[in-house]
Amino acid sequence: MNEMTVRSDESDTMNRLIRQQIQVRYDYPVVFTRDVFSLENNTLPEILLGIFGDHPSPAAALYIDKALVGGHPGLELRATAFLRQKLPRLQVAFTRTLAGGERLKSSPLIVDQLIDEMAAARLDRHSAVLVVGGGAVLDTVGYAASLVHRGLKVIRLPTTVLSQNDGGVGVKTAVNHAAGKNFLGTFAPPAAVINDFNFLRSLPDHEWRAGIAEAFKVALIKDAAFFDWLCDAACSLRNREEAAMEQLVFRCAELHLQHIRESGDPFETGTARPLDFGHWLAHELELMSGYQLGHGAAVAIGIAVDSLYAESLALISSDTADRLLRGLMQSGFELWHEALEHVEADGSPVVLAGLEKFREHLGGKLCITLPSGPGRRVEVNEIGKKQMAGAIQRLRERVAALDC
Ligand SMILES: NC(=O)c1ccc[n+]([C@@H]2O[C@H](COP(=O)([O-])OP(=O)(O)OC[C@H]3O[C@@H](n4cnc5c(N)ncnc54)[C@H](O)[C@@H]3O)[C@@H](O)[C@H]2O)c1
Ligand SMILES: [Zn+2]
Repeated sequence: MNEMTVRSDESDTMNRLIRQQIQVRYDYPVVFTRDVFSLENNTLPEILLGIFGDHPSPAAALYIDKALVGGHPGLELRATAFLRQKLPRLQVAFTRTLAGGERLKSSPLIVDQLIDEMAAARLDRHSAVLVVGGGAVLDTVGYAASLVHRGLKVIRLPTTVLSQNDGGVGVKTAVNHAAGKNFLGTFAPPAAVINDFNFLRSLPDHEWRAGIAEAFKVALIKDAAFFDWLCDAACSLRNREEAAMEQLVFRCAELHLQHIRESGDPFETGTARPLDFGHWLAHELELMSGYQLGHGAAVAIGIAVDSLYAESLALISSDTADRLLRGLMQSGFELWHEALEHVEADGSPVVLAGLEKFREHLGGKLCITLPSGPGRRVEVNEIGKKQMAGAIQRLRERVAALDC
C-alpha cells in the first residue's frame, strides 16, 4: 500500500494508512589534538559551550579508564581543575575511574550501577557525560548513558589506537551478555569525539599494535594507497614512531567515518558489514582463548585467513596476500594461535563455528566481506568450509615461508 486510501466516511478508520517517514540528522565533530586538558587547549571547552548554549547551570560527569592513572599521573585532578577553570558555570557532578578492558563490559552489574549514579547526580538530557578511556569503557558508559532519559550527551575521548581509529568514532555502544559479546547495545552517536594522541604514549606494546590490524582491515578493502603506505610503515609503527601512528589513526578514522556517512546503512539494518571483514573468525578466537587473545591480535589473524580464502577464489593475487601477511608480521603480530588447531570429530577446525554465529548475528543470511584486490571488496553469501579449513592450514605454511 503506497498511498493513503481516502474514504468517503471519515469516521471509518479501517484500511486507512498513515505513512510515517522521519529523517534524523546527526552532526558530531571528531577532533584530533594533543594534551586536551592543558589550559592552552580550547577543544573541549568549545565543544561543551556548543552543547550547553546558554544553559544557566549545566552539569557533566567524568569517567576515566583506570589504566590511565599510572601513565598520566594526576589526570583526574587535572581534568576537573581544567573544567572548573575553563567553564566556571559547569557543575562537575562526579568523577569516577573504571577498570577498563573486556571484563568491564562483561560485568553483569555495571550498567545498573552506572545508571544509578547518573540518576543520583540528576543528569538530564542537557548534561554531558565525558568518557576518557579505551573501547570497553567507552562502550559500557556509552551504553548506560544512551539509556538514561533515552540518551545523554556523550563526549568520547578514546585513549587506545583501536578506539581512536575505529569504535570510538562510530555510532554504536555495546556490552556483553551471557548470550554473547556485544549482545546488548544501542545505536547512539556521540555528541563529540576528541582523539588526544598523547594518551597513546602510555599504551603497552600489544595495545599500541591492536589498532594496526583494524587499519590493515579497512585499507585492504577500501583504500589501496593506504594499504601501500601501511605495508611500508609497518616497521615504523612497530617501533612506536608517533608520527606514523598519528597518520594511521587519522586515515583509518576518516575511512571509518566515511563508511558510516556514505554506506547508506549507518545503523546496520542490512546484512553487508564491510568493517566486519575478518571478524567472524576474530570473535571466535577471542572467545576460544577466554579473551586472552586481544581483539586486534585476533583481527590480524581473521583478516589473514579470510585473505588466503579470497586468494583461493582468485579474488586477490598471491602477491597481495603476501604483502598483507608480511605487513601484519612486520607490525608485530603473531599470525597463529593454538585455538586454530582445535578440530571437531570430523577433522574440521572448531573455529568455523564462528561463521554460523556471524550468520545469526546478521539476522539469518550470511554475508562475508572479502578483499578483491587492494582497495576493493566483494560480499559473499556462502563460505566453502573445506576451502576455509584449507586457508587456515595454509596460513601456517605461508607465515613460516615469509622472510620478515
Ligand atoms: N562500539 C563500537 O562500535 C566498537 C567497535 C570496535 C570495538 N569495540 C569494542 O572496543 C573494545 C576494545 O577496545 P580497546 O581496544 O580500546 O580495548 P580496551 O578498552 O579493552 O582497552 C585495553 C586495555 O588498555 C587499557 N588502556 C586504555 N587506554 C590506555 C592508555 N592510554 N594507556 C594504557 N592503558 C590503556 C584499558 O584499561 C584496557 O586494560 C572491545 O570491547 C570491542 O568490542 C566497540
Ligand atoms: Zn574490530
